[in-house]
Amino acid sequence: MKNTILVIICIALISISCTSENEIDLVEPIDTGITVTYNNDVAPIINSNCLPCHNNPPINGAPNPLSTFEEVRTYTKDNLIDRISRPAGAPGAMPLGGPRLSQSDIDLIILWSNQGFLEDN
Ligand code: HEC
Repeated sequence: MKNTILVIICIALISISCTSENEIDLVEPIDTGITVTYNNDVAPIINSNCLPCHNNPPINGAPNPLSTFEEVRTYTKDNLIDRISRPAGAPGAMPLGGPRLSQSDIDLIILWSNQGFLEDN
């Protein structure tokens, strides 16, 4: 009888721990289910943080415009993610003079790249 109760308690504990693991799995990944596009997600970040210098024509010494889908895609394939990921104040960190983009904005641009640079929904 004692053994039966023990077995029942064990089964109960195992199923409780499985349940809570599943809840953690559901909360953790932020990237499942969202589709990042240039027009909806990336352009607003670039327009407000980068266009002050990377306009067309670029100003304040910026070497390249980041004013169109094609330009932003070209530089994201090259060194843009590296530049925006650098710690605030590090040489070459963008936006020049700071402040650093929020981590969620940086993550969105990385996800846009991983999803193959969609322009629109
Ligand atoms: C205050 C002006 C300014 C702002 C704002 C700015 N940049 Fe720059 N950017 C520059 C200058 C000047 C350079 C050239 C010096 C260098 O390479 O670090 C540059 C260089 C770059 C380069 C390297 C280009 C190349 O030819 O290799 C990238 C990529 C870049 N910026 C991306 C960005 C992004 C993305 C943002 C917005 C999140 C941004 N920049 C905001 C001024 C700026």
